[in-house]
Amino acid sequence: MDQSRTRLVMGNWKMHGSLAENTVLLDGLLAGAARVQGTQVAVCVPFPYLAQARQALVGSPIGWGAQDISTHERGAYTGEVSAAMLADFGVSWVLCGHSERRALHGETSRQVAEKAVAALGAGLAPVVCVGETLADRDAGQAESIIAEQLAPVLALGADALARLVIAYEPVWAIGTGRTATPDQAQAVHAFIRAALTRHGAGQTRVLYGGSVKAANAASLFAQPDIDGALVGGAALVAEEFLNIAAAVA
Ligand code: PGA
Repeated sequence: MDQSRTRLVMGNWKMHGSLAENTVLLDGLLAGAARVQGTQVAVCVPFPYLAQARQALVGSPIGWGAQDISTHERGAYTGEVSAAMLADFGVSWVLCGHSERRALHGETSRQVAEKAVAALGAGLAPVVCVGETLADRDAGQAESIIAEQLAPVLALGADALARLVIAYEPVWAIGTGRTATPDQAQAVHAFIRAALTRHGAGQTRVLYGGSVKAANAASLFAQPDIDGALVGGAALVAEEFLNIAAAVA
């Protein structure tokens, strides 16, 4: 990666954990945090555990975030969680448009951009997820799908783009053990970087996600346009997650 961009390694716990399990994981992260130097680290936890994450991590080098956010400020939106509510829990980061939200909850690219706007309005940093399915890739449409997903986010302008993060997660690599090769990932990251640069935001960080492990992190991080990782399964084991965060290219 470009040294002028601070590397960011973020865990996405998805719908895993319990108060007891999280205590073990958070204690493990805190115990080993000192060996991660020069890389920002954060975990995105399920909503009910934001208070637990805040209590454990406040004052530590590890940040915490949420996995989704409402586009609305307040009102009759049963089950939704607003930006202000997340800010109440000291949240720094929020995932927007993870592929599981797009696929299972019908989130459109426009809604994802609205979520990013809601997050930015409360001073939170959105991590906007994009990525193609295997069918898209096989049809030679990876770039056009990603361009469509990015378009409403790019339209937010350079100031907003400078305050958010993009995560490229090929759907076929998520939870499958099948990571994109460093070259495959770099090709898409370069495509995203070019789009960001055209919109005055060439320094926006672009994370890679999809079966990232300690064993493949360094080769991914060696790519010039990969600024870190969004990590699912491997973020549930403190040692493995810290090894990813500590991996240097
Ligand atoms: P994975 O998930 O690391 O388990 O593939 C990544 C993600 O979905 O963010």
